[in-house]
Amino acid sequence: MTIDYAEKIPNNVNLAGNRTLQRALEHWQPEFQSWWADVGPENTRNTDVYLRTAISVDPKGWAHFDHVRMQDYRWGIFLNPAEPHRRIGFGAHKGEAAWQEVPGEYRANLRRLIVTQGDTEPASVEQQRHLGLTCPSLYDLRNLFQVNVEEGRHLWAMVYLLHAYFGRDGREEAEALLERRSGDADNPRILGAFNEPTPDWLAFFMFTYFTDRDGKFQLASLAESGFDPLARTTRFMLTEEAHHMFVGESGVGRVLQRTAEVMARHKTDDPAVLRGLGVIDLPTMQRYLNFHFSVTMDLFGADVSSNAATFYSTGLKGRFEEAKQNDDHLLSDATYPVLEIRDGTLATVQAPALNALNEKLRDDFVRDSAAGVERWNRIIAKAGVPYTLHVPHKAFHRRIGPLAAAHVDPDGNVVGAEQWQANVHRWLPTAEDRAFVASLMGRVVEPGKFANWIAPPARGINNQPLDFEYVRFS
Ligand SMILES: [Fe+2]
Ligand SMILES: [Fe+2]
Repeated sequence: MTIDYAEKIPNNVNLAGNRTLQRALEHWQPEFQSWWADVGPENTRNTDVYLRTAISVDPKGWAHFDHVRMQDYRWGIFLNPAEPHRRIGFGAHKGEAAWQEVPGEYRANLRRLIVTQGDTEPASVEQQRHLGLTCPSLYDLRNLFQVNVEEGRHLWAMVYLLHAYFGRDGREEAEALLERRSGDADNPRILGAFNEPTPDWLAFFMFTYFTDRDGKFQLASLAESGFDPLARTTRFMLTEEAHHMFVGESGVGRVLQRTAEVMARHKTDDPAVLRGLGVIDLPTMQRYLNFHFSVTMDLFGADVSSNAATFYSTGLKGRFEEAKQNDDHLLSDATYPVLEIRDGTLATVQAPALNALNEKLRDDFVRDSAAGVERWNRIIAKAGVPYTLHVPHKAFHRRIGPLAAAHVDPDGNVVGAEQWQANVHRWLPTAEDRAFVASLMGRVVEPGKFANWIAPPARGINNQPLDFEYVRFS
């Protein structure tokens, strides 16, 4: 089914067939647009961007490329096609037909899951609002805007569910999603990492690598939901999410490539010398990595959580790749290892698997994250530089769960407050690191040119050359 962009709200959910819903969403649309104008990418109304827009959800149509004027961008509502006779794959309702309507007894929990996911989408747009002013190239600027418009669309995806299935409280939640602001003292976004600033492009690349990857794992778990409209919505979002992680992985990779090349050419690993040469030294890269990794780890929630157990048992939120898990999909007797602080050291204890589902998803995320860090290390090694990056221990710098009670270094040693204070400048970005990275952030908008601190990408977007006009200003 091809999506009609002449419609006020492009969609593949037959919005025209439900006038009440259509009117409600058409009422929300101008509020969304004014939110976008207020806190979306700065100064972009008259910018033409080479964007990927979905014109259908099938493999041919979901990646259609063209220059689009930002103020004319149309956010649509797209669900993956229904899987006929889909059955719930886990929990107490395992084997029953997937729900097409919200079961009354699960309404509050489902709404909470949708609102929590939905809140992250506008948050990241707000966090990234100023980055366009310091882009390292047109290619990167285009990628930033691509991520931004898709996060806007993800908000639409969640708001559609709230409006279509949750009546009046759904509409109120949809309004509140436009009222909270990332980092606002009075009305912040729901989750911690989404209130951290994204002040520079290194932070942006780390964010899209790590924090958008949290998005991948959350969406993949929601894609298992017994509530079929949520499963279909999140499945389509996942296809878009892959690009966000690509922006992060290739962005960090290009920074590393540039630094490693300069290190090899000048035969130095002295951070001061490298900074003088205008590239980001590898220890600073490691500290940024430590920060974004640890802040993202907290997004998975408490290690032992009765909410996680309830969401699973009631069929609302599954595990990553639920169907591939080789067990009873009920987890009533299973256990799962979690970490605790015992006598001043980390100890592994067995928790009921149902309650440890956050921890299980976090472990899946760690594995996926670490694989990309290995790919980064190959880039450094290829330049002949003996340095490896690592993901820190999962207990490092945690703010949520029992591990938040202790200071744990990147290797997993519990350390005292004094030792933490004396060493934290080696583990997390310092004010000086951030100031240095900020000092590199110029604005490069000449087609084919790239800032000094980052290597050009291996290829352009949609096979376009590197000097293509990915963004046009007028
Ligand atoms: Fe998203
Ligand atoms: Fe994303």
